[in-house]
Amino acid sequence: MIVCIANQKGGVGKTTLATNLAVALSKKGDTVLVDADDQQSAVKWSKRRTENLIDTEHHKGDLKKVLIDLQKKYKYVVLDVAGRDSEEFRSALQVADKLIVPTQPSQADVEVLPFVLKMFNTFQKVNEKLEPFIVVNKAPSNSKSTEVADSIELLQTLPKFKILNTVIRDRKQFRDASVQGLSVLEMGSSKAKDEFNEFLVEIL
Ligand SMILES: Nc1ncnc2c1ncn2[C@@H]1O[C@H](COP(=O)(O)OP(=O)(O)OP(=O)(O)O)[C@@H](O)[C@H]1O
Ligand SMILES: [Mg+2]
Repeated sequence: MIVCIANQKGGVGKTTLATNLAVALSKKGDTVLVDADDQQSAVKWSKRRTENLIDTEHHKGDLKKVLIDLQKKYKYVVLDVAGRDSEEFRSALQVADKLIVPTQPSQADVEVLPFVLKMFNTFQKVNEKLEPFIVVNKAPSNSKSTEVADSIELLQTLPKFKILNTVIRDRKQFRDASVQGLSVLEMGSSKAKDEFNEFLVEIL
């Protein structure tokens, strides 16, 4: 299974979801984390790990052959890719099984999503199995905020994408885990862990 995590927008949690997902999936079967972003944040995260190492590779350019070859060797291929219009993103959409788009719950973030939707529409024609998901990430933990409800209403106007019921909130534990090269799943119990587990159930 090839899971592509992408969004044109920066800082929305692509690498956070990719690294946490790689750890979660590695417990179910051989998993490789592919970092197709020049910043190589996932590679850097992986180098901070000291135990239960996750195979992590940086690749550039056309990823079709790379991903198909990795899929022969690994049960799960998790891809972190900057979702701007790039050869990496375009090629990944041609072979991936799932496209997960994290977004923050603000109008400015939601407004850039039609670009990803357009890319998805282009490549779903050649890759019919591709399933697209949107997950709200870094939502304010203050439950009184109406930002999440407002942005979900906006997201629902985007056709085809499945909007996950799970809302991942801004939880310090995600940042703490990243600093140590960990997943929140490898730390003590927390709301971050519960939310991430809920997210997993919805996408698998
Ligand atoms: N749910 C969350 N709660 C708290 N912090 C988060 C959460 N998700 C991501 N972060 C933090 O937000 C910052 C940006 O996240 P991340 O690097 O995963 O985003 P990105 O989309 O990969 O960014 P870039 O576009 O730069 O690659 C990081 O410091 C990360 O630890
Ligand atoms: Mg990143």
